[in-house]
Amino acid sequence: MYRLPELEKTANIRAIALLTSGGDSPGMNPAVRSITRAALNQGIKVFGINRGYSGLIIGDITELHSSDVTNIVQRGGTILKSDRCEAFKDPVVRNQAAEILREHGIDGLIVIGGDGSLSGAHLLTQETGIPVIGLPGTIDNDVYGTDDTIGFDTAVNTALEAIDKIRDTAISHERIFLVEVMGRNSGHIASQVGIACGAEMIVVPEYEFNLESLCFSLATQRARGEGSSGIIIVAEGPRPGLTSRLATQLEEHGEKPGVCILGHIQRGGRPTGHDRVLASCLGAAAVNYMLAGFSDMMIGMVNNEIVATNLQDIIEKKKVLNPQLVELAQLLHK
Ligand code: ADP
Ligand code: F6P
Repeated sequence: MYRLPELEKTANIRAIALLTSGGDSPGMNPAVRSITRAALNQGIKVFGINRGYSGLIIGDITELHSSDVTNIVQRGGTILKSDRCEAFKDPVVRNQAAEILREHGIDGLIVIGGDGSLSGAHLLTQETGIPVIGLPGTIDNDVYGTDDTIGFDTAVNTALEAIDKIRDTAISHERIFLVEVMGRNSGHIASQVGIACGAEMIVVPEYEFNLESLCFSLATQRARGEGSSGIIIVAEGPRPGLTSRLATQLEEHGEKPGVCILGHIQRGGRPTGHDRVLASCLGAAAVNYMLAGFSDMMIGMVNNEIVATNLQDIIEKKKVLNPQLVELAQLLHK
């Protein structure tokens, strides 16, 4: 059960700002709506910063009213726009950003983004004293301190919709398909998608992959006269081109795999109910934590409980990928 923490309003905060940063994720909009409405309804002014840290450092800031977040709970992307901003890695620039926030009379900042964006938020508060609260907004689910990040569930379901269609072709043509999903350096999307689509194998950066065993299992299928069809889910991994390299290796073993790279389709689309509820709960909780004087923390959901974790831990600790999920695909294979 989701329960908002009961926190006493102790901080002298009259105005907050929020921004979305890094890769956009479905659910950022419900988070923006939740933060805005939760703050306005408690008498706090709200400012939206456009294009993440890129907008912050040039003062692209506008006041948000309740009507500005009407009709966005169901929309993918982010109405505040998002960006990656190399300049924010410079402490001088972060100091200027803090000055801009002060000039606008902004007493605290809520950052919605992945671990990179949360690293930026941590440095900003450490160096300048501007209170910050982070929310985990990324499809990758690679953020410590929360079971799911905002957008992960939608991305998994979007990938599944495509993969179920690819499987029809795989079966009709008795072919195997390598399907590449996003996730940067982590296999959270791949493992979840792999189990849910009944993949024959899941390839993730965290664990070793055995090409020989895959080829053996495909050869066994063929020997049974079944034709080798199936789906292999590949996490994109840190180096581009992994899926093509795997396809070449399979070709060398006599297979003719199809390759499908799902790409940015996984980042868009209307958020699932799960992501909308998660974003709404975490958004309102972020406001309450900020008004209670907390800073340098990320608000996540662990075992259906709202949990605040120090940003230092979020940055240093790695969310572990459950190895059993990856093994399960093989256990469930015919
Ligand atoms: P995500 O937030 O989804 O992990 P990135 O890693 O691309 O995405 O980070 C998004 C933005 O956060 C970067 O473009 C940069 O502006 C900021 N950021 C990332 N890492 C740092 C860092 N170490 N110091 C300051 N800012 C950072
Ligand atoms: O972090 C979200 C993500 O979609 C990753 O899964 C992917 O590796 C990366 O962003 C792609 O970034 P870009 O949109 O800049 O190509």
